[in-house]
Amino acid sequence: MEITIKKSYEDMSKAAANIIADAIRQKPDIVLGLATGSTPLGTYKELIRMHKEEGLDFSKVTTFNLDEYYGLSKDHTQSYYYYMHKNLFDHINIKEENIHIPDGTACNVEDYCSKYEQQIKECGGIDLQILGIGTNGHIGFNEPAEKLFASTHLTDLTEDTIKANSRFFDSIEKVPKKAITMGIGSILKAKKIMLLANGKNKATAISHLINQNYITTKVPATFLKTHNDVTVILDEEASGFNKNCCKDCCKE
Ligand code: F6R
Repeated sequence: MEITIKKSYEDMSKAAANIIADAIRQKPDIVLGLATGSTPLGTYKELIRMHKEEGLDFSKVTTFNLDEYYGLSKDHTQSYYYYMHKNLFDHINIKEENIHIPDGTACNVEDYCSKYEQQIKECGGIDLQILGIGTNGHIGFNEPAEKLFASTHLTDLTEDTIKANSRFFDSIEKVPKKAITMGIGSILKAKKIMLLANGKNKATAISHLINQNYITTKVPATFLKTHNDVTVILDEEASGFNKNCCKDCCKE
């Protein structure tokens, strides 16, 4: 696992955008796995800038999003479909037919989830998967539990996640209780994975990932330790690095 610690959120976002842009330049028809939430916003902003100012070309890029709230339609302002268009897709030259986001209104969910997995396979698998991490260690919406699911599935959101995500809704009652998410196996099938985390509320989850040697379903992100090409980019706060600390644990 390669770990990079950047001074600020902006630096973390630029480093992540550079990795994605290089990957697109090397393989213009790349298949990207994308995340939503606050963490990748700066990265998407930088990718938009690169498209507008440097001609970064998304015309052959295919994307698969990790997850979508169950019960929200595409035009709901808190749906991940809406988020992705507002924060990235509407500002770059990606083709609408190359965009895949789980459908939060799918009726036969089991069939729908198998089809989503099948679509990823038919596109040749994900080349580069971008991940954020929940304060409880979730990746995608694979929440801490006794068992984790391998492939795309409908899941219950934990109280922690509902509370954390209520900041985007008018009230906590409006946060959906379920989501469709890629499974841990779907994520681990990606050829390369890049996880981003910023802010001190992510430091504990990150510590389970980078400082401990165990894998546990209680912290789903620990499964990333079984993958051979994971890059983690953190800001100082998420890394637990404290420049005023006199102990070796926090020295650069
Ligand atoms: C979103 C996703 C989630 C988020 C995580 C962190 O598509 O898969 O795992 O990455 O909840 O969210 P933020 O970035 O809002 O802290």
